[in-house]
Amino acid sequence: MQDASAKVLEHSEIGAGYRFLVFEAPEMAKSLSPGQFVHVKVPSLEASALRRPFSVFDAADGKVSILYKTVGRGTAALNSVKVGDVLRVLGPLGHGFPTVCDGSAMLVGGGYGVAPLHFLARALKSSGQADVKIFIGGRTKADLLAVDRFRSLGVDVFLATNDGSEGVKGLVTDPLDDELARLRETGGRFELFACGPDPMLKAVALRATGTASRGWISMDRHMICGVGACYACIQKTVRGNSRCCVEGPVFRAEDLVWE
Ligand SMILES: Cc1cc2nc3c(=O)[nH]c(=O)nc-3n(C[C@H](O)[C@H](O)[C@H](O)COP(=O)(O)OP(=O)(O)OC[C@H]3O[C@@H](n4cnc5c(N)ncnc54)[C@H](O)[C@@H]3O)c2cc1C
Ligand code: FES
Repeated sequence: MQDASAKVLEHSEIGAGYRFLVFEAPEMAKSLSPGQFVHVKVPSLEASALRRPFSVFDAADGKVSILYKTVGRGTAALNSVKVGDVLRVLGPLGHGFPTVCDGSAMLVGGGYGVAPLHFLARALKSSGQADVKIFIGGRTKADLLAVDRFRSLGVDVFLATNDGSEGVKGLVTDPLDDELARLRETGGRFELFACGPDPMLKAVALRATGTASRGWISMDRHMICGVGACYACIQKTVRGNSRCCVEGPVFRAEDLVWE
């Protein structure tokens, strides 16, 4: 783990409330793996010394990128960061996704939850995994992020929106269930990988629990220290309380206990 000074190389709006930020961190970029996160100290919040956790969208060629949604004070302050500014970034943090898969890789993301799935999709594709599908859901088409990035990796993309403005009208589990049914009919094996809002994660986890297929779920819990010291980020599991920042954020689906 390093606490790096990272120069901002790119920072752009990619849709209502969503931004894409790239920073230079050569050592970190080499050691990050998909599903891990970085803890970013937002410059104008320096006094509080609190950092904000973000999944890694990609890490390559000495650069690390994140995709974030503005939801409160920290992310609003992050909006004002400019190209050339230097951020303090702690990482790599947490346990990520496995990057080998038994059968088809079925990725399921909602909102900014697509971020770690992009890094994962690229890793799976470069390790020779042929069949990678992503199911992206959102309230409306403005919440369907990075669709072209996934397509350019050669990933099959399935879209769903609550209002029908893009893709299937309904939940992301609708096209997922169609594909799972197709795979089951032909005896195809698969693993599920998910990141997004809790109801979506629970729905995906239940589709893997108690079956022969493995599920990997990235949990988003409010964090303070990000390194295991404060116990702010507890996730209930079958083995008791786990810290999302150390034992997670990615957990085996069958280990999670849902409220
Ligand atoms: C492992 C991990 C990976 C993450 N990856 C990303 C990412 O790739 N992109 C991205 O946009 N965000 C991501 N987040 C969430 C991000 O860290 C929070 O949105 C951010 O910390 C909010 O900071 P803020 O100061 O803007 O909001 P605050 O002012 O702290 O909070 C604003 C509102 O958001 C709620 N909130 C804060 N943190 C969380 C959280 N973690 N989960 C749910 N609600 C929260 C608060 O309760 C409050 O209602 C991730 C979180 C974790 C734990
Ligand atoms: S954020 Fe402090 S223990 Fe996880």
